[in-house]
Amino acid sequence: MKIVGISASPRRQGNTEFLLDKALEGAQTAGAEITKIVLNECCYSPCQECGGCDNSGICTVMDDMTDIYRQIDVADAIIVASPIFFGSIAAQLKMMIDRYQCYWIRKYILKRTREKRKGFFICVGGQNRQDFFQNAEKLVRIFFANIDVIYTGALFYPGINDKGKIQEYAGALKEAYERGENIARDVE
Ligand SMILES: Cc1cc2nc3c(=O)[nH]c(=O)nc-3n(C[C@H](O)[C@H](O)[C@H](O)COP(=O)(O)O)c2cc1C
Repeated sequence: MKIVGISASPRRQGNTEFLLDKALEGAQTAGAEITKIVLNECCYSPCQECGGCDNSGICTVMDDMTDIYRQIDVADAIIVASPIFFGSIAAQLKMMIDRYQCYWIRKYILKRTREKRKGFFICVGGQNRQDFFQNAEKLVRIFFANIDVIYTGALFYPGINDKGKIQEYAGALKEAYERGENIARDVE
């Protein structure tokens, strides 16, 4: 059982990454093989709308997305984690999602289907704005639907700003850990 975690924060050892690490730790304890992708350390362009995938459903842009597609393809479940940036997900994640246009082609034009997997979302923001979390959640739901991942829920943490501040919230880390465990048990 493989679980892939995707961190969209540019801040290493930041709140998003701490939460994602806890969820992955929980998943690993429950028997999953885990992989973490830190988007900010990957080199990929936004979708160029070049039409290169129009007939094949395969992106023709050669960059780190090639490996990201492969990792997510073989995952039994995925956990996406992002900070709130200007009321939405971080650009690193939006750029990755847009590069899944080739999967939109596979699903809606080429009518290819695949076995459904499960996905989960973790999101942290400095303000206490539920509408911002809802915006972010909507985008992640759209992404999951495009790649045949069932949205199984989210954990939202408002009011967390300083780097690593989430470490002071033992309950939040425990919650993320337990969600990770549950995701892995659910997949088994
Ligand atoms: C460019 C930028 C934009 C941000 N925009 C928002 C925002 O609109 N709403 C909010 O609640 N927090 C916002 N924040 C605060 C981050 O969501 C918050 O600091 C979060 O804990 C960062 O997580 P990280 O440590 O994983 O990067 C913003 C931070 C940055 C750097």
